[in-house]
Amino acid sequence: SAAVKGGYETFMDKEIHEQPTAVADTLLGRVDEHGELQLDEMRIEPAVLRSVDKIIVVACGTAAYAGHVAKYAIEHWCRVPVEVELAHEFRYRDPVVSEKTLTVAISQSGETMDTIQAVRHAREQGSKVLAIVNTYGSTIAREADAVLYTHAGPEVAVASTKAFLAQITACYLLGLYLAQLRGNKWADEVTDYLERLAAMPAAIQRVLDEQAPQVRDLGARLAQESSFLFLGRHVGFPVALEGALKLKELAYVHAEGFAAGELKHGPIALVEEGLPVFVIVPTPRRPVLHGKVISNIQEIRARGARTIVIAEEGDSAVEPFADHIIRVPATPTLMMPLLTVVPLQVFAAALAQAKGLDVDQPRNLAKSVTVE
Ligand code: G6P
Repeated sequence: SAAVKGGYETFMDKEIHEQPTAVADTLLGRVDEHGELQLDEMRIEPAVLRSVDKIIVVACGTAAYAGHVAKYAIEHWCRVPVEVELAHEFRYRDPVVSEKTLTVAISQSGETMDTIQAVRHAREQGSKVLAIVNTYGSTIAREADAVLYTHAGPEVAVASTKAFLAQITACYLLGLYLAQLRGNKWADEVTDYLERLAAMPAAIQRVLDEQAPQVRDLGARLAQESSFLFLGRHVGFPVALEGALKLKELAYVHAEGFAAGELKHGPIALVEEGLPVFVIVPTPRRPVLHGKVISNIQEIRARGARTIVIAEEGDSAVEPFADHIIRVPATPTLMMPLLTVVPLQVFAAALAQAKGLDVDQPRNLAKSVTVE
């Protein structure tokens, strides 16, 4: 009924709109009066965390894409290599894991069997496991050495939205905490980044207020399309993967995400007249990265693609090559996923609704997959 859905038509809509709160609540109470991060629930000894020489993120689905985003930030801030692996792949090979490996298991439910098995596999080999989960007392939370809870609140819609933003936020807290603890060259900037994170809920709210209505229209208009591509670079790459996943899950449409740089190595062969392609454009304040994506847009546009561009406010370089522009507030590159993924969620939900589908309970999917 509408009451449990907070006045929204679907849980998905409600949860998409709860994202500013999900991020704010995940940040809440974790920074002390000196601007230092205090992760009380981090029950892994500081000495152990200082000696970590590798991080392996294990997760499935959307949670794994949060790990992909986190890799860019954690490697940059901590200078520790981060591998991201699907839990079911990690589980059945012979990964290089030791006492110096920190395994980070990301899961909304904390009950995904593949991820539980990966946690056990890592611990058996002496790795400490940090769980980033949304559900108190869940199996992964109980079995891990430490838990950093995301405070997204209960997520009901099968396809994950607000948990994803909360997972990225929690991973960033972990990265900044490690940087602070290990005292490397980024340690001075931890406070700065925490302030930038604290500014994100308002920025996400602006995307919802100012962009969601036109993105919903676009979703309805493109409801008859049978295939979509999503392109991104750097942190925009996992966002592209998540945008494609949302569309597959909710609208049963073929959708693929690619690293924009990979286009010329194959995927560009798919581009034909009228194909809708989403492109996530980096901030123009990173001119090299930005310029590369602008040329990617030109390349696909020249081959007839219909380009839907997600770009920063004021980025006019995209205008000549965009059939449709979705704007997000200016924000540092590493924070961009928290904004750019939002229109992709809104788009997928709107397109599915236009097709008359049940966006909260898509066919064949379960909220939490408790079997292997
Ligand atoms: C299922 C859900 C996805 C979710 C994935 C991982 O496949 O349909 O939305 O991303 O499981 O779930 P978890 O609870 O471990 O985050």
